[in-house]
Amino acid sequence: MIMQDNFELANGVAIPKLGLGTWFISDEDAAQAVKDAASLGYRHIDTAQAYGNEHGVGVGIRSAGQARDTLFVTTKLAAEIKSYKEAVGSIESSLLTLGLDYVDLMIIHSPKPWMAFHDADRHLEGNREVWRALEDALRAGKLRSIGMSNFQEADIDNILKSGTIKPMVNQILAHISNTPFALIDYCQRQGILVEAYSPVAHGELLKNAEVVAMAEKYGVSVPQLSIRYCLELGMLPLPKTANPVHMKNNADVDFTITAGDMLILKNQEQIRNYGEASRFPVYGGRL
Ligand SMILES: NC(=O)c1ccc[n+]([C@@H]2O[C@H](COP(=O)([O-])OP(=O)(O)OC[C@H]3O[C@@H](n4cnc5c(N)ncnc54)[C@H](OP(=O)(O)O)[C@@H]3O)[C@@H](O)[C@H]2O)c1
Repeated sequence: MIMQDNFELANGVAIPKLGLGTWFISDEDAAQAVKDAASLGYRHIDTAQAYGNEHGVGVGIRSAGQARDTLFVTTKLAAEIKSYKEAVGSIESSLLTLGLDYVDLMIIHSPKPWMAFHDADRHLEGNREVWRALEDALRAGKLRSIGMSNFQEADIDNILKSGTIKPMVNQILAHISNTPFALIDYCQRQGILVEAYSPVAHGELLKNAEVVAMAEKYGVSVPQLSIRYCLELGMLPLPKTANPVHMKNNADVDFTITAGDMLILKNQEQIRNYGEASRFPVYGGRL
């Protein structure tokens, strides 16, 4: 069962191979979603300051009926924060909002503030400052592991050169039809675990006829095929749903995709239209 399997991060911390995404799950609904997920066997929940649901996620974690140390919680430091002082305050505020003594993984949500996501400025100094705050919180036992999200090679190198602790994770957009192979390879060669966000392309893959046909061939749903695809590439998928039927389906991925079919999936024409979500910078939009 995938939910009982772990990857090992560079600092030896075990991270469950499947995480539940919570973007667009409201603060009111988040506690129930976390509890439902935990009762189905999920042990890894992915939230962010920007999702506005850290409070609900924390309530869910604390009332899930599972020992805290059996659950893995990730949150993300807001993309706009690019100074040491603000980062220190922001880490504290996540701990308070979640109502937890420690967070298992905290990552910088983006190297660039969302409103400047497509600008050339990489905020190299700001990211070094934020990284220093994450390192200090890790040493203080407030965080068990630290990492980044949406970081390109140059952003990663900035931290590798200046930091004293190597990032453990890079969480990036990666799904069938939009898989940044070179970046994935770079991270993996550096010993950085790649987490695949939007593994179902924010739902858009459900409309891809070729992917639908292949899922039918394997007798699985499109999300199951999409999640398995990420695992085959050594990535940790983070499918989002608050629906327990979908949660159960997404965790039932004990099958393999043949090398030939992986090649077909790797060569799917890139999705560029993410529907209403296209306005978000992570899908190319400008908010
Ligand atoms: N670091 C970042 O910048 C970043 C950016 C984007 C996302 N993320 C993370 O990655 C997570 C996942 O990405 P995402 O939310 O964009 O989308 P996603 O997981 O790729 O897709 C979610 C969509 O797929 C549907 N779905 C999921 N499982 C299903 C199933 N078994 N059957 C049918 N439909 C299914 C969901 O519908 P229902 O809700 O109705 O089940 C929803 O519409 C986020 O929640 C977040 O935690 C991080």
